[in-house]
Amino acid sequence: MEILRNRQNLSDYITQIKKQAKNIGFAPTMGALHEGHLSLYKMARAENDIVVSSIFVNPTQFNNPDDLKNYPRREEEDIEMLKKEGVDAVYIPQVEDIYPQNTTRKNYHFGGIEDEMEGKSRPGHFDGVATVVSELFRQIQPNNAYFGEKDFQQLAIIKKLVEIEKFPIRIQGVPIYRAKNGLALSSRNMRLSEEEKSGASLIYQTLLKVKECFPQISMDEIKKRVKEIFAESNYRLEYFIIADEESLRELTHYDKNRKYRAFIVVFIGEVRLIDNMSLD
Ligand code: PAF
Repeated sequence: MEILRNRQNLSDYITQIKKQAKNIGFAPTMGALHEGHLSLYKMARAENDIVVSSIFVNPTQFNNPDDLKNYPRREEEDIEMLKKEGVDAVYIPQVEDIYPQNTTRKNYHFGGIEDEMEGKSRPGHFDGVATVVSELFRQIQPNNAYFGEKDFQQLAIIKKLVEIEKFPIRIQGVPIYRAKNGLALSSRNMRLSEEEKSGASLIYQTLLKVKECFPQISMDEIKKRVKEIFAESNYRLEYFIIADEESLRELTHYDKNRKYRAFIVVFIGEVRLIDNMSLD
């Protein structure tokens, strides 16, 4: 596997791949890899000649400095996992390779989806994500790019970003990878104790219950029940909503022709976990 540690190395590698007219499948990461990331590379491998990963903890998408500081970093283990998965190259840029002037984010408009859910809870987060992803797309020039559905709103933002910036890239969502107990895999899970990991399955169990009773039971009643479940637990519910899959706006009137998804954010101790489930 090629380990490309700066923009020049990457550029030489990409030039050589493009000369051979090979297809590139790319999935960006912030490292601390797990099986969920590997499922992105499995899909990329099946659909492309060359599979490229990146590891970069992007400072402009964190609105909480502690979150940035505590974000798990384990480069050696990540490289080993990518090698085992048969990834062809990993780009591990320095901050100046991505932000040559100022480490600032651009201001984007994505038609309102950026203002829902995570956009409300984490102001500026999606501008930071879009800034880094568009720079990585410009440098790596993939044909296909893969993003997990765990960050469903991020996936929707990236689809819009590609339209806005007119990148000739197909964006592919990859289903959530769950542990045996239903906990959605996330790099943040590394900060949970074994007991917390097992308790956090309450998030998945709750989503399953919601799916069972949607749309027969009213939205207000579903919300009330979800709040009760978490009020009786040791965990803090930040938000729970059922939203239209396209607009990401909270459901007000059920329309059987639309697709809906339940979105939830829960604090397990200090760790903020996000999850979602299709209600189709
Ligand atoms: O989902 C992530 O890990 C990050 O938001 C991404 C897409 C790698 C951008 O930094």
